[in-house]
Amino acid sequence: MSEAKAVQGGKRFFLTTPIYYLNGQPHIGHAYTSIAADVLARWKRLAGNEVFFLTGTDEHGQKVERAALDAGLSPQDFTDQLAADFRGMAEKIGISFDDFIRTTEERHKRSCQALWEKLAAGGHIYLGHYEGWYAVRDEAFYGPDEIEDRNGVKVAIASGAPVEWTREPSYFFRLSDWTGKLLEFYEAHPEFMAPASTKREVTAFVKAGLQDLSISRTSFKWGVPVPGDEAHVMYVWLDALTNYITALGYPDPGSERWGFWPADLHMVGKEITRFHCVYWPAFLMAAGLEPPKRVYANGWLTIEGQKMSKSLGNGLDPLLLAEEFGLDPLRYYLLREVPFGNDGDFSRRAVIGRLNSELANDLGNLAQRTLSLIQRNCEGRLPALVPPTDADRELLGPVEALPAAVDDAISRQAFGEALERIWTVVRLGNSWIDSQKPWSLKKTDPVRMEAVLRNLHTAMRTLATVLQPFMPGTMASMLDQLGVGEGSRALSDLATPLPDGTALPPPSPLFRKIDEAA
Ligand code: MSP
Repeated sequence: MSEAKAVQGGKRFFLTTPIYYLNGQPHIGHAYTSIAADVLARWKRLAGNEVFFLTGTDEHGQKVERAALDAGLSPQDFTDQLAADFRGMAEKIGISFDDFIRTTEERHKRSCQALWEKLAAGGHIYLGHYEGWYAVRDEAFYGPDEIEDRNGVKVAIASGAPVEWTREPSYFFRLSDWTGKLLEFYEAHPEFMAPASTKREVTAFVKAGLQDLSISRTSFKWGVPVPGDEAHVMYVWLDALTNYITALGYPDPGSERWGFWPADLHMVGKEITRFHCVYWPAFLMAAGLEPPKRVYANGWLTIEGQKMSKSLGNGLDPLLLAEEFGLDPLRYYLLREVPFGNDGDFSRRAVIGRLNSELANDLGNLAQRTLSLIQRNCEGRLPALVPPTDADRELLGPVEALPAAVDDAISRQAFGEALERIWTVVRLGNSWIDSQKPWSLKKTDPVRMEAVLRNLHTAMRTLATVLQPFMPGTMASMLDQLGVGEGSRALSDLATPLPDGTALPPPSPLFRKIDEAA
C-alpha cells in the first residue's frame, strides 16, 4: 500500500542523559534534557532498534559534599535520599531508562579505577602540582584569562560561578598531547558535535591549544580513590564521564552490553560541552577506546523570562507542573515551544495556549470528530478499506510520508521540527474533514462516507503512532480508541491495515482544556 520511504530499524542504539548532580531537588531544567532524550529513545525503539537508554546521578565531588554538609547529613545519606528523588522523578515523567546509574555504586568505582590504570599504563598521567582557579559550582578549573572580578568577587566569565584559588598536589592527564588529534577527529566526524554553535565554540577552544588537565584532588575525600595513591580522589568529571562505560560493563571485556559502545548520542546541556567534546574523547582515545559518535547540546530554559536559580527559588518542580497541565502536554510543550538546541522559556501562558489550541483543538477535535462519526454512523465498527480516490490521496500521501519525515527530524534532534511536520498533517486532517463533510454524507452517499471515515482513521492511527514517544500515555489511549492492539503500535505495523469491521470502543476526550484566565 505504501510507497513512502521506510524508516530504518534493526540497529543497536546507545543513548544517555547527563548524570545529574545531587546538590538539590530535581527541577524542570533536568526534566527538559531527560524528556528530550526519552523521546529519542522511544522513537528509536518504535523504529525497531535495540535501544539502551542510560540516565543517573553524579554523586561525588566538592559541590555535592558541601551540599551534604549544609544539610547536616553525611554525603552517603544525603546522596541516597536525593538519588531516590531523581530516580522517582525520572519514572514519574515517563523516562524509559534501561539503567539508572549512581556514581557511588561499586561497579562504577571499579570502572573508574580501571580506566585510570589504563591511562596511567599508557603514560598519559603524571604527578604534579595544581595551582589555579577552581569553581566548585561548575566543578571546573579555569585559566587566568577565563576569570573576572564582579563586585569584588572573582568569578568564571563563562558561567559566573565564584572561583577559589587552589594549590595542591595533583595528577595530570596529558591533554596537551591531544590538540591535533582532537581537531583531526572533529574534521573526520562532522556529525560528532551539534548544534553548529557548539561545534564552533568547542573547535575554537581546542584550536587555542589545550593544557594538561588536573585529574585528582587531595583537599577533600568524597570521590573515587586514585589507585595506588589514596591521598587523592579522582577529579569528579573524570569519574562522572566514565559512567557511560560503567553501565556497559567496563572494564569487563566479556560484558554483553559492551556491544553498545561507542555511544550513539550523549545528550547534554550546552554548559557541559567542553567536558563531553574535549576531555571525554581524549580520555577514551588515550585508553584505546572509541569516542562517542555524537554529542548534542541543548539550550537553557528560563522561567517566565528569568534565569532559574536557587536564590530565586524558581526551579519549577516537574511533578507539580505535570499535575497542573498533564504530563503529556508538559512533555509536548517542552519540545514544541523552543527549537531544540536554542535557549527557551517556560511560561504558563504559553503552555496553556498550546494545550488548548494544538492539543485539545487541532488534534483532540480531529480524533473526536472521526471517532464519534464512526461510532454513530457505522455502529462503532471500522469501515472497510477501499481504493483511494484523488481526493483521498491528498490526505493519505502526506500521512504515508510522515514517519520518514519525523524520523529524519528526530535523527537530527530537531524535535520541534518533527512536531511541526506532524502538525502539518493534523491541520491537513482538519481541513480535509471539513472539505469532505462526512457528517452530511450519511443520507446522500453512505458508501463515500465510510471511505472518508476509514481514511481519517488511517490518518489518526499514523498520527497517534508517531506521537507515542512525545505523549506516551495519551497516545496509548488514542490507539485504544482507534482499536489498535498493544502489539501493533510500532512504525512497521503501519504497513498492515487494521481488519475491516474492527470494533472501536466509544470515544472519550483526550485533552482537557485549561481556562487561560485561571
Ligand atoms: N553532573 C554534571 C553532568 C555530568 S555528565 C557526565 C552536571 N549536572 S547538573 O545537574 O548540573 O546538570 C545536568 C544537566 O541538566 C545540564 O547539562 C542540562 O542538560 C540540564 N539542566 C540543568 N538546568 C537546566 C536549565 N535551566 N535548562 C535546561 N537544562 C538544564 O552538569
